Amino acid sequence: MCGIVGYIGSKPAVDILLEGLTNLEYRGYDSAGIAVEVDNKVELYKAEGKLQNLKDIVNKNYTHIAKSTIGIGHIRWATHGVPNTVNAHPHSCNCGRVAVVHNGIIENYKELKAKLEKQGCTFRSQTDTETVAHLVASEYAKCGDLTEAVRLATKQIEGAYALCVIHQDVKDTIVATRRNAPLLVGIGEKEYYVASDVPAIIQYTKKAMYLDDNQIVTLTPDSMKLIDIENNSLEQKIEHLPWEPIALSKMGYKHFMLKEIHEQPDVVRNVLSGKLRAIDEPVCLKEVTLDREKLKKLNRIQIVACGTSLHAALVGKYIIEDFCGIAVDVEPSSEYIYRRTITDENTLVIGVSQSGETADTITAVRLAKKKGSHILIVTNRPDSTMAREADSLVPVNAGIEVSVAATKSYMAQLISFYLLAIYMAEVKESIAKEKLEELKHELIILPQKIEKVLSHKENIQACAKKFSGSKDFVFIARGINYPTALEGALKLKEISYINATGYPAGELKHGPIAMLDESMPVLSILMSGKVYEKILSNSEEAKARNARMIALTDSTDPKLNELFDSTIRVPEICELLSPALAVVPLQLLAYYIAEFLGKDVDQPRNLAKSVTVE
Ligand code: G6P
Repeated sequence: MCGIVGYIGSKPAVDILLEGLTNLEYRGYDSAGIAVEVDNKVELYKAEGKLQNLKDIVNKNYTHIAKSTIGIGHIRWATHGVPNTVNAHPHSCNCGRVAVVHNGIIENYKELKAKLEKQGCTFRSQTDTETVAHLVASEYAKCGDLTEAVRLATKQIEGAYALCVIHQDVKDTIVATRRNAPLLVGIGEKEYYVASDVPAIIQYTKKAMYLDDNQIVTLTPDSMKLIDIENNSLEQKIEHLPWEPIALSKMGYKHFMLKEIHEQPDVVRNVLSGKLRAIDEPVCLKEVTLDREKLKKLNRIQIVACGTSLHAALVGKYIIEDFCGIAVDVEPSSEYIYRRTITDENTLVIGVSQSGETADTITAVRLAKKKGSHILIVTNRPDSTMAREADSLVPVNAGIEVSVAATKSYMAQLISFYLLAIYMAEVKESIAKEKLEELKHELIILPQKIEKVLSHKENIQACAKKFSGSKDFVFIARGINYPTALEGALKLKEISYINATGYPAGELKHGPIAMLDESMPVLSILMSGKVYEKILSNSEEAKARNARMIALTDSTDPKLNELFDSTIRVPEICELLSPALAVVPLQLLAYYIAEFLGKDVDQPRNLAKSVTVE
């Protein structure tokens, strides 16, 4: 969602704010703004649209703005109020002395606004955030202390927020706080940074302090004070950030998405490293703290996730059920909450999230935790809010993913599910050793197979060119690759805006087949295994309705050339592991189609990488 950056020290704040916002652009990008203190006055600069528009405005006044060594910045993904300059952050109060940036949603903003209007506050924007600016100004007028004003304001706020506040009358001070939205403080030499995520600050410092809910930090160039919402002083827990700035470079690739697709062989190696040491050794998953006896007795697993993580969860269901004989339900987190959810201490609840900050998934796992379930979190961000809810934390080690469309994190989640399923099957002794050894062997050689796909992209590029004019796309598959069809369709929708849908191939004739004609491409995921022949028959049915047929297959059967207009071949692979290979050409297909159409691949319209509101 929105991104926040703050700086206080001795360097020109504007450079750090704009650089930080650039590195947070993946979180949301419909408008941006900064507030700096120049010549004892708080000045706001805001612009609608891409960050470049703000940079253009700032550049015109650069010498003046660069005098400031304190500032806060924001990149917005609109929730309340259309994306325009007035609604862009920072927001201010009547007199313009306070500036506030905010990530989250103030749920009781209407009541607060009515109260503040009665006190004489004039609202300019349609945002929920502006109430915070007026509220802080009003509390400051009463108490004359910025930290106290923020503390009293947050006591009146309901909802989720990460906030950064400056006040013209309180020189060289930033106050920041959070509740259900991420925020961290970067620590330098007589300087501090505030950010909603690590990429904004990693090039400046690796020393940081994560804020917990309801904590308030007050920063000056040479001091940091931490209190809770009840005004108790707190101990500061300083951490070392395990990220390298290089993760934020495209390394010669045109887009982060293409770079991240190419990183997948190494991601697989990373995830397996130390966990799958040899085919005849049990998988080592120390991260799973669920007692082995309890694990043996589990009779139900629920997995909650959103978007691409949900598709990884669907593959997870298939393998866990197959290996462990435990019933697994997978649900979008947003559907799991706000209903009577049946879960208890005998249910293992798994939350899957790249960012670890997806609000719906956080709410879902918190709900299950209250009911006594063991919470296992599979995330790429062990430093995230969700990770803190975990009883067992399985980090997926994909490295920072910048492109909004998830690719390498999906791969890492899949591999984590394979490891988890093997681990559980070994504890439960629920499956023949030989079957597990075959899969372990396939996992170890998977990176080479992915490398093969990545080194023969011409065919995928040609296919992308041929079908880039299509308005709609259908992806069909069965069994363990049904989630691959969903993920292929999602990738295409996200970055090319082509209407694409994934169907279980057997369902085609129960409705969707009515849409098929000579303008509709149907991509069949035909991986060798139990359902190969069935999908072939379903593809025949589509061909008989004149659809334009594309095969994604590991089969070398020459008969496929008669049925399909285009064929994308991948190396042979066992059926159970095939989702981890079949998804790669689909990521590339989506990428090249979007490229041909001239779309903004890394920052597709309307999307945010990390969705921190429900
Ligand atoms: C957003 C992103 C998706 C992502 C989903 C879940 O919608 O645009 O790419 O799959 O959130 O995110 P998570 O971080 O929980 O995996």
